[in-house]
Amino acid sequence: MALKTINPTTTSAWSKLQAHFETIKASHINTFFAQNSNRASEMTIKWEDFYVDYSKHRINNETLELLIELANEVDLKDAIEKYFSGDVINQTEGREVLHTALRNPKDAEVLVNGNDVMPEIFEVKRKIEIFSNQIIDGKLKSYTNKPFTDIVNIGIGGSDLGPAMVVDALTYYKNHLNTHFVSNVDGDHVNEIIKKLNPETTLFVIVSKTFTTQETLSNANTIRSWFLKNAPDAAVSKHFVAVSTNIEKVKEFGIDENNIFPMWNWVGGRFSLWSAVGLSISLAVGFDNFDKLLYGAHKMDEHFKTADFDRNIPVVTALLSVWYNNFFKAESEAVISYSQYLNQFATYLQQGIMESNGKSIDRNGDKVNYQTGTIIWGEPGTNSQHAFFQHIHQGTKLIPAEFIGFSKSLHGNQDHQDKLMSNFFAQTEALMNGKSKSEVIQELKAQGVSEETIRMVTPFKVFDGNKPTSTILINQLNPESLGKLIAMYEHKIFVQGIIWNIFSYDQFGVELGKQLANTILDELKNPNVINNHDDSTKNLLAFYKKQSH
Ligand code: F6P
Repeated sequence: MALKTINPTTTSAWSKLQAHFETIKASHINTFFAQNSNRASEMTIKWEDFYVDYSKHRINNETLELLIELANEVDLKDAIEKYFSGDVINQTEGREVLHTALRNPKDAEVLVNGNDVMPEIFEVKRKIEIFSNQIIDGKLKSYTNKPFTDIVNIGIGGSDLGPAMVVDALTYYKNHLNTHFVSNVDGDHVNEIIKKLNPETTLFVIVSKTFTTQETLSNANTIRSWFLKNAPDAAVSKHFVAVSTNIEKVKEFGIDENNIFPMWNWVGGRFSLWSAVGLSISLAVGFDNFDKLLYGAHKMDEHFKTADFDRNIPVVTALLSVWYNNFFKAESEAVISYSQYLNQFATYLQQGIMESNGKSIDRNGDKVNYQTGTIIWGEPGTNSQHAFFQHIHQGTKLIPAEFIGFSKSLHGNQDHQDKLMSNFFAQTEALMNGKSKSEVIQELKAQGVSEETIRMVTPFKVFDGNKPTSTILINQLNPESLGKLIAMYEHKIFVQGIIWNIFSYDQFGVELGKQLANTILDELKNPNVINNHDDSTKNLLAFYKKQSH
């Protein structure tokens, strides 16, 4: 059954939120704390190893009640049921959205066209397990009978960002295999990777749901040619495996049928790391850890499905995001992870969030007259404090931020951990409280600064505060907690898409540029082909051809 098509701005909750916003927009978060001594605990969700504090937001209890009323009016509950039960909610592509099935326990049942997909999922999982174990243990050997030392994941977008982020995030859990990721069609990228490899001991994993993506096929072809300069043709079957839905195309590329790890159309590229797309993860950290990642995600699925909306982490974080996006008109959101392991997390989220919800046509096919998709960005703390935090603290833009931290470090250096986390807590406190004029003056006086200098510098040293943040404090970074965290964002994306009445699971917006690039490529490769372009593009092409060819 199709998703409902309710324009959120026509709901009574939206009008109430609009009126409520007018009464609350100038209030300082500090005053909310002063009004309610239980605020911090009331606005904290403790679930498993997650402690999510959303009290440092420009909301009061009424705000949250109205946001939940909005979720109810657009019938979020109904949408969640359809999402998990395999309804065709990716209507524009005529597909189910079932990445959640990939992390289900074996005894679950999920029907697609009347067939239970769980047995196939577990068959592929078993294949991933056996293959990973054999490569890691050195039982599957190279064409010269050596154990593999290096794995290269060749893919782009969802076939790269997820596995690359997770492998990086789980560095602590890695085995002896070196993992590399080639994604960009920039030939310098693939050449820099090749430079580090010994073809005799490298396994190549080509990941492409469609197996038609220009970047991935170009890189795969370049790598295969390089490989064959050193190895005989027969070695390809030992060194190349593929993950795809397009079995025919994979075979055409020359990959052995046994070396194909299938995936399904009902798994969207940007949500596919739980499928065989995660093969590089399983190779890098072992199947058991890959399975724990899936288990963590499944736990978050259960939480999302069953928790009341006001205690539901993906729902609450999504509603807060709608509040800032649609009422405060915030232009972007930051995600700041206080863990260097999560260095690629914001980049990964950019595809999930912006490819899903960067839409302007609603589920009725009409142009929306309200803001949708958030712009998401971020870098790990504390590095980001020394880069863009100035802007968050004292700039003119409102940038709600999610702070993600871990109570325990992995290597156990408590001194570093306490320093890191003191920054984590200090930043959200500072962003909320700011620093008043009188505090600045007092501080400068105590430092013995002259009256004249105090007068001059005070305005620049005042912080308004009132900058909203959520604090997501997790016990420790491990495969299970990472699985929970990623799934939390997947569901947050879903909730936002439902509220904004858009289709979150297609990505037609990336097509136009691809089509044009093919036309231009023809022109670059063939001097006789001249297509029609605007004057700017024409000049640029002519200039490039002169310089480059
Ligand atoms: O960027 C568009 C996109 O279709 C993504 O959604 C997808 O993750 C990526 O290209 C790669 O696609 P494929 O896995 O089919 O190569």
